[in-house]
Amino acid sequence: MRKILVTGGAGFIGSHVVPALLDRGDCEVTVLDNLSTGRRAYVPAGVSFRLLDIRSRELEDFLAREKFQTVIHLAAQTLVPYSMAHPEADEDLNVAGLVHLLEGCRKSGVEQIIFSSSAAIYGDNQNLPLQETEMPAPTSFYGLSKAMGESYIRLYSQAFGLHHVIFRFANVYGERQGETGEGGVISIFARKIAQQEPVTIFGDGNQTRDFVYAGDIARAMCLAVGYSGCATLNVSTNKEVSLNQLITVLEKVLGHRMDVRYGPVRPGDIYASVLSHKALVETLGMREYTDLETGLAKTMAYFQK
Ligand SMILES: NC(=O)c1ccc[n+]([C@@H]2O[C@H](COP(=O)([O-])OP(=O)(O)OC[C@H]3O[C@@H](n4cnc5c(N)ncnc54)[C@H](O)[C@@H]3O)[C@@H](O)[C@H]2O)c1
Repeated sequence: MRKILVTGGAGFIGSHVVPALLDRGDCEVTVLDNLSTGRRAYVPAGVSFRLLDIRSRELEDFLAREKFQTVIHLAAQTLVPYSMAHPEADEDLNVAGLVHLLEGCRKSGVEQIIFSSSAAIYGDNQNLPLQETEMPAPTSFYGLSKAMGESYIRLYSQAFGLHHVIFRFANVYGERQGETGEGGVISIFARKIAQQEPVTIFGDGNQTRDFVYAGDIARAMCLAVGYSGCATLNVSTNKEVSLNQLITVLEKVLGHRMDVRYGPVRPGDIYASVLSHKALVETLGMREYTDLETGLAKTMAYFQK
């Protein structure tokens, strides 16, 4: 059995990753979470749970005792606007917190770290579809903290031999997504629809995103566990979908028309976004991706319950 720690495993993405790891059948999974945005109920029964902040002093002893082979690091400050209002708090968790974790990993002999980075590191680069070779040019402190985190991980690999897989997620959606997190347009729409309220699109609706289902993030993570090299990989559908197209697919899933309102463009919003997943296909062999209609059907079923 491979011993795996998932930090932030009680959150939205964690709630997809942890069951997928259990399904592999060869992983002993522990979740470490301070429940600041996560929920204890999202952690499956039988998975050991440790209520702890990744910045706490107890972390080092905990890692030394448990001797994990792989650490999947999801715990983070995930809100772009919050990072702009509180750059220090963002840095404290996403950079200093990560370095504290990396030190614990080094001292306790962790073999591999899998990191959840973000498309936010690319900023508004319009060289689409974005490949991992593009220079990071974040336009938010959140994106900057993720880019810094990536650099720390790479140097830890180089200096101390810790293997890594860095995943840059596109706009993730799925069951249990919070309303405020990164890329939450689908969860915002899903809640409005469930409450029979109109949804608002800021701009003409032709702005595009790359909406990747959380179950696909979980599959990518499972494929990365035990990978013996180091890699930086986008996790995306490689498909550009406009918000107007999103509405069309949502209406098909729901079987009725939606009440859609259009508002003014929000300053700072990126117009077009799509990430290449060629490297993920080639490196980890992930060839299948959930199509938008299937992913939305699962998501809507959850939010309408
Ligand atoms: N959702 C997206 O579209 C998206 C896109 C790109 C990257 N990411 C990244 O994926 C990861 C998971 O995001 P999510 O959407 O599941 O967010 P989430 O808020 O649902 O999950 C984060 C989890 O981390 C926990 N946590 C926060 N601070 C902690 C701390 N100091 N110590 C221990 N636990 C702590 C929270 O309680 C929560 O369970 C984050 O690193 C995020 O930056 C998410």
